[in-house]
Amino acid sequence: MINIKQYELSNKVLIPSVGFGTWQIPNGEIAYESTKSALEAGYRHIDTAAAYGNEESVGKAIKDSLLKREDIFITSKLKAELKGYQVALDEFQRTIDNLGVDYLDLYLIHAPKPWGSNLDPLEFSVLNIESWKAFVKLYNDGLIRAIGVSNFKPEHIQPLIDATGFVPHVNQIYLCPGALQLETVDFAKKHNILIEAYSPFATGRLFKSDKIHEIAKKYNKDAGQLALRWSLQHGHLPLPKSITSARIASNLDIFDFEISASDMLEIDSIQIPR
Ligand SMILES: NC(=O)c1ccc[n+]([C@@H]2O[C@H](COP(=O)([O-])OP(=O)(O)OC[C@H]3O[C@@H](n4cnc5c(N)ncnc54)[C@H](OP(=O)(O)O)[C@@H]3O)[C@@H](O)[C@H]2O)c1
Repeated sequence: MINIKQYELSNKVLIPSVGFGTWQIPNGEIAYESTKSALEAGYRHIDTAAAYGNEESVGKAIKDSLLKREDIFITSKLKAELKGYQVALDEFQRTIDNLGVDYLDLYLIHAPKPWGSNLDPLEFSVLNIESWKAFVKLYNDGLIRAIGVSNFKPEHIQPLIDATGFVPHVNQIYLCPGALQLETVDFAKKHNILIEAYSPFATGRLFKSDKIHEIAKKYNKDAGQLALRWSLQHGHLPLPKSITSARIASNLDIFDFEISASDMLEIDSIQIPR
């Protein structure tokens, strides 16, 4: 079994440095079987969200794995459309009921504004602060081991800190070769916020780049492994998604090689085909 390295969050909680992504994996057999494959392959960190609609099947696969609850790091997210203090408390309860667990390892505000809204995310600051206060309460009550945000830029995080004095442990953002999010990463470093890199393969588009395959060959690795290793070497936590058991397993085989500094720079600047 692959020995997955762990990161330490600012509150000393350990988090496996690669997580299994579950966006667009339909609830039911596919989510159940994929999560089961991931746990069998050695993943101990599962990333889901209320908005993915698959918490039930993900939770069932976790339960049926017979692994100890404390050996699996489970993340879920508060829907971007649902904001406010009581709303967040109610939605948290719904999420843990759906997953069939009695606590979460990480809970995130999914986005600073509802998907599809044309408003500036700062218009939602008051509501995000109310959600954040609920997150802090759940954290202080011991129902969540770490709390954070997703898709937040520095100017969206600062109001949360100003209002509560509580800095998120994690910010989960779109980050892959060619999309480095330097400003958000820099803010995170200054505040000791761990960056989780979602869509580490640009939702599959990365594989259309010849460059990534070319560099991967030098290391006797495939393009997926190279992209995930690149993310780790930047100090991020990648969240690869796959429903294919061979890929689920190969995406974890990334701890036995080191990308050179010059190749890191080359991967930084890869242009992802649309
Ligand atoms: N917080 C947010 O707003 C947010 C947004 C997007 C994503 N996320 C999180 O990040 C996770 C990953 O992002 P994503 O779902 O956009 O996709 P991704 O991981 O960037 O890419 C997934 C795609 O790549 C394919 N793939 C996976 N491994 C491969 C390999 N080794 N070789 C070739 N193809 C491979 C998959 O195909 P198969 O599945 O067919 O194998 C799928 O089509 C999500 O599942 C979710 O947990 C969060």
